[in-house]
Amino acid sequence: MHILGIDVGGTGIKAAIVDTQTGELASERIRILTPQPATPAAIGATLKELVAQQQWSGPIGIGFPAAIQRGVVRTAANIDKSFIGLPIAEYFSQQTDNPVYIANDADVAGLTEMRFGAGKATRGVVLIVTIGTGLGTALFIDGHLLPNTELGHLLLENGIEAEKYASETVRVTKELKWKDWGARFNLYLTTMEKLLWPDLIVLGGGASAKLHKFSPQITTQVPVVAASFLNQAGIVGAALFAEQELRRAS
Ligand code: BGC
Repeated sequence: MHILGIDVGGTGIKAAIVDTQTGELASERIRILTPQPATPAAIGATLKELVAQQQWSGPIGIGFPAAIQRGVVRTAANIDKSFIGLPIAEYFSQQTDNPVYIANDADVAGLTEMRFGAGKATRGVVLIVTIGTGLGTALFIDGHLLPNTELGHLLLENGIEAEKYASETVRVTKELKWKDWGARFNLYLTTMEKLLWPDLIVLGGGASAKLHKFSPQITTQVPVVAASFLNQAGIVGAALFAEQELRRAS
């Protein structure tokens, strides 16, 4: 099945047609900067533009940086607060004139890694952490997702919210060396390990491609690996989520 996958991030919005059988992209990936302020209307207009550029008509899967419960946005850490309470799938369907299926960005990235990537065939507990504007998490047990975990907002033992201490944005804005940022991120991962005892941790998002630069700082007992799809996991997973919902409905 071919589905348009869209990854809405705090910085950029990326779209490509995805072959859900193989997890490969079936069109060129197009990226547009996230409009500021990132209001529902402004993001809706960007989605419409991406759909037009991809000459797409059909189901659309979207990974979105918020907790989404039964189609309704519940949190807005790095997006406009006016999203809270919005029936977002319905809203973006109207804006793009196509059926939209939407879920948390880290959750959909996790779907990709569990089906085709680094978590493939891993039984037990797998934690995916996406490192970007925020810190996103997805938690799987024997391949099944526990949605909307939002563990990037956990307070660390230093009293600071994890994503305000160890996200990609923090590394860039504070101009931290990989070594110093790595030590911060390690505090996050070791905290996660103590609380969840995962069998595997998979890192996604922009910084996952740079794991070799901060792996010396990682002291967890559990193996920590980079996402096979790196930051493409979001686009592919958005399409996988839409496919899953379409199958559920039929
Ligand atoms: C949001 C999550 C999201 C993560 C990564 C956090 O600020 O609350 O919903 O998954 O950022 O984008």
